[in-house]
Amino acid sequence: MLDKIKNLTAEIEALTASSTDEVEQLRIKYLSKKGIVSLLFNDFRTVPAEQKREVGQKLNQLKTLATEKINALREQVAAAGESAEAEKIDLTRTATPCAEGSRHPLSLVRNEMIDIFSRMGFTIAEGPEVEDDWHVFSSLNFAADHPARDMQDTFFISRNPVDVLLRTHTSSVQTRTMERLTPPIRIVCPGRVYRNEAISARAHCFFHQIEGLYIDKDVSFADLKQALLYFARQMFGPETKIRLRPSYFPFTEPSAEMDISCNLCGGKGCGFCKHTGWVEILGCGMVDPNVLEACGIDSKVYTGYAFGMGVERITNLKYQVKDLRMFSENDVRFLAEFDAAH
Ligand code: DAH
Repeated sequence: MLDKIKNLTAEIEALTASSTDEVEQLRIKYLSKKGIVSLLFNDFRTVPAEQKREVGQKLNQLKTLATEKINALREQVAAAGESAEAEKIDLTRTATPCAEGSRHPLSLVRNEMIDIFSRMGFTIAEGPEVEDDWHVFSSLNFAADHPARDMQDTFFISRNPVDVLLRTHTSSVQTRTMERLTPPIRIVCPGRVYRNEAISARAHCFFHQIEGLYIDKDVSFADLKQALLYFARQMFGPETKIRLRPSYFPFTEPSAEMDISCNLCGGKGCGFCKHTGWVEILGCGMVDPNVLEACGIDSKVYTGYAFGMGVERITNLKYQVKDLRMFSENDVRFLAEFDAAH
């Protein structure tokens, strides 16, 4: 018996395996119920009493050895398998293409608008979104009791000692620029604006505008009309017509709103333009002399025009986006549609 154990010990110590299957075979061969080691335990009954102690110890040692050896082989085979797997990686393969993001539709349209005005000599000016009363309202000739100064319409950050608020329009960049520069001034001011509105498909508490301003000697309403006609045709196609309707803004005099011929039906009348053939796109006018004077520009020497429009509005006209909330929800299915657009 002792000899058997000795031989088996040597045999087990020398075991090798190259796959998990082989390890399993070895486990069955030595350690299963009918395995070699287990059968030795059965023979233990026949061992003479005086040898039982020694043989018992050796048998137990053999069983431990076999269990440990087989576990070690199992780990060894698994580790070898992993590194073989790693070697299979083909570093010469071209990388898996990863999807590139697309530009946001509002950025696409804003850039297109800026491009058109830059071809007419306009440069970009920017200003802060957190503003004061002077730049958003007072310098722009808003009366003290104008409703826009109400909490209902404007987000105020503090009202004491001075009104600090989120700008409600990019016209504030007009006055900031006029205070800083001497004419001629020819700028467009793109940016985000905020209004205290309930969010719906047709209104949002923030949106984007582009403001335009041109101040020089002898700037006339005809110059304004020409610039806007050029813009409309570049943006919506060479057949586009414009029409100016008298309107009111505190900072321009005279003021107008501009419509373009409906770009969906070409002006014939459809559901989109409520069968009028026209859709409104912007407000504009000649800069009020009070505004020029408030910014330190001599209104007897200089005149100018200004206009302002919503980037969402132009984007809706171009791409028929029905719900304003789509622009800020960042649903990739919506955003990816503009991949092909540019
Ligand atoms: N600031 C106006 C608004 O937010 C838009 C506007 C109208 C801007 C007329 C102008 C302008 O410069 O002349 O509704």
